[in-house]
Amino acid sequence: MTVLFLEPQFKVEWLAELGSRGIFGRQHQWLDETQRILLVIDDQGLEDESFVWVKDVWPAAVREAYASIGAAQKRLREVARRWAHVTFRHHRRGELILEGLRSIKLIVSGWPAAASGDGREIVGEVGGFMLLSESEMIWCAHPREIFPGGDWKIDETDEPPSRAYLKLWEWGWRAKCRPETGMTVLDLASHPGGWTWVLLKAGLLVRAFDRAPFETEFLDGIGRDGAKRLTFTRADIFRCTPKEAGACDWVFCDVIAEPEKTLQLLSDWYQNSSAGLCFTIKFKGQDGPRMLAILRDLQKMPDLQVQHLAVNKHEMTVWRAPLSHFEASI
Ligand SMILES: C[S@@+](CC[C@H](N)C(=O)[O-])C[C@H]1O[C@@H](n2cnc3c(N)ncnc32)[C@H](O)[C@@H]1O
Repeated sequence: MTVLFLEPQFKVEWLAELGSRGIFGRQHQWLDETQRILLVIDDQGLEDESFVWVKDVWPAAVREAYASIGAAQKRLREVARRWAHVTFRHHRRGELILEGLRSIKLIVSGWPAAASGDGREIVGEVGGFMLLSESEMIWCAHPREIFPGGDWKIDETDEPPSRAYLKLWEWGWRAKCRPETGMTVLDLASHPGGWTWVLLKAGLLVRAFDRAPFETEFLDGIGRDGAKRLTFTRADIFRCTPKEAGACDWVFCDVIAEPEKTLQLLSDWYQNSSAGLCFTIKFKGQDGPRMLAILRDLQKMPDLQVQHLAVNKHEMTVWRAPLSHFEASI
């Protein structure tokens, strides 16, 4: 059985995605009336599927009876070292079970310390369980998400000039490869500077571009050399193509634009540069067919990872490691 966790506010998107994958033609069951949790019972061949608009995926999930709190703890301890309780029913009982287990204490604040490797290596594998009744639970030893159920905990700070920093922090915990100190990165559509703040904090040389210039107060919090590592150019970022922009290690882009236009710029970088890429593709409101068309085009670029992040609105985050990273790992 595979469990899919869904977010009601993105129903148009996940309905389109799951429909296009034939999920509703399989044997399935909604666990709740508000359609937040879908059990896919006939899940053969789903192991390798990635779901963009799904908050979390629990592959090989097990639904089983437990006789007591102690029995549930014993069973869960056998299958994973750490656990998170996803509240469904019987919240208090679930929390009591969790008290007897090792759990996850993480709150994301910045990127993981190591320059490479995904966040999961640092956190360790965290299993997820939820209670269906006082005597029945569902658990998964290897959820897709570091935070089972997709309940990401991310620190709030008012240091950066926009809340967009949350996206880049979350991305940093998902990406298997991130830029390393001293590398040169482009920050396309950088105003008001949330991503620039994250990138400078990571010790990178940042070449930022936007139509609108920064208010530069946020640079004070970055340390003495922060501003020295930043150049800003007022420009149309759609002119910042691999041909025009020159060499760089990574390209970050968070532009508000028609999704097809952003996709075109992304494709240009994908095909004509070896840089690492991290783009957001934004939609104006909800449009299932348009989103699916973009997804299909993204799938033609096989090295790309695509995910609707926990902190994303109606947008998808798309990334790939620099090509040198792939060569080094062959
Ligand atoms: C969501 S904001 C970027 C937020 C920013 N990443 C941050 O972390 O604070 C989108 C930006 O796209 C910029 N933008 C939209 N179209 C642009 C274009 N053609 N060229 C340059 N900037 C553009 C806007 O000026 C706006 O600042």
